[in-house]
Order: sequence, then structure tokens, then C-alpha cells
Amino acid sequence: MSVAIRPASSEDLAGILGLEESIFVNDAWSPAQMRAELGSPHTSYVVVVDDVEGIVGYGGVQAPSASPDADIQTIAVVPSFRRAGLGRAIMAELIGAAWEVGAERVFLEVRADNPAAQALYVDLGFEEVGVRPHYYQPDDVDAVVMRLEFHGGASAGPGPIGASS
Ligand SMILES: CC(C)(COP(=O)(O)OP(=O)(O)OC[C@H]1O[C@@H](n2cnc3c(N)ncnc32)[C@H](O)[C@@H]1OP(=O)(O)O)[C@@H](O)C(=O)NCCC(=O)NCCS
Repeated sequence: MSVAIRPASSEDLAGILGLEESIFVNDAWSPAQMRAELGSPHTSYVVVVDDVEGIVGYGGVQAPSASPDADIQTIAVVPSFRRAGLGRAIMAELIGAAWEVGAERVFLEVRADNPAAQALYVDLGFEEVGVRPHYYQPDDVDAVVMRLEFHGGASAGPGPIGASS
């Protein structure tokens, strides 16, 4: 495979939605929600594009410039491209975008029954800070709330997370 990661635009909406609906099923965002996400001045989205398959991954972060808190909105990689470092690369881009606008910490919510995503987040330094019972409906699954703190001030950067680590 030959893949590249780049900022997403509104022209990527259909490709992202196709993956969103196949991967997240009951938790998928609607076309209107995703269109608003891609058009928001407070979000940064990226796509991973394979030269044969097209969009094979995407992710987004909400990071308003005046807020110390950023939120990972979504991340997904198609099954046939998993465990190749793409999820980590997407997260590095999103965390970097939050850092660049001055965020002090990044939050996310992950299904309690999603050990793969939780393992990725723990590996990147996120810590569990709470649980939202019955958050995901209609599946009735809890959400685990996780947080990554940027320590060390503006010169430190987001720590050991590299864009292509
Ligand atoms: C979560 C997801 C984005 C990870 O993408 P990925 O490209 O496979 O992740 P990476 O290859 O970058 O993995 C990085 C690290 O995460 C952890 N990890 C990822 N998948 C894992 C799995 N299935 N089991 C255990 N650990 C896993 C590992 O520590 C891995 O490092 P390693 O491969 O060196 O062991 C992908 O599984 C996915 O799209 N899942 C469906 C959508 C989803 O659940 N999104 C998250 C919503 S909160």
C-alpha cells in the first residue's frame, strides 16, 4: 500500500461518510453532522488516502482556539489497513492540531467494549478519568472518558507522540 495523510475538506464528505456508516453502524454520524464537522472553524479533520483504495482512514478533533480543552471527535481505519500504524498517525495529527491552537489537554470518549481503541489511546498517554453509563444507544454501552494532559509548557510540544511514530 502507498498511503498519505492530509487535511480533509468538504470534498471528502462522501468518502468519510461511507466509512463512518460501515464502521460505526449504530453510532454513525449523520451526513448533516459530518458536513458541519468538516465545515467548522473549530475542528481539524484529516484523511488517510491509499493510492488504490481511496480514503482508508480519517479522524477529527474539536479544538477551539480560546479553549484549553480539545476533544477527539472521531477516528477510524478500514479493517484491512489496521495494525499498520495509521490510527497512531491520525491521532498524532489530531493531537498536534490541538497543541498548535493552545489546548492544554485532549479528551475523548470510547465505548467500554472497544479494547482496540482503548489500547491505542493508553499507548498515546491518555488516562481514564470517568465513565458515562449507557452513553451509547441503542446498544446501551458505557462510554469511558479519557484525557491526555500536555505537560511542560509551550516549548515541550505534545511529548513523545510523533506524526509518523
Ligand atoms: C482504533 C483504530 C482506529 C486503530 O487503528 P489502527 O490503524 O489499527 O491502529 P495502529 O495500527 O496505529 O495501532 C497503534 C497501537 O494501538 C494499539 N492497538 C490498535 N489496535 C489494537 C488491537 N486490535 N488490539 C490491541 N491493541 C491495539 C496497539 O498498541 C497498537 O500498537 P502496535 O500495533 O505496535 O501493537 C481501529 O481499530 C478502528 O478504526 N477501529 C474501529 C473504529 C473505532 O473503534 N474508532 C475509535 C472510536 S473511539
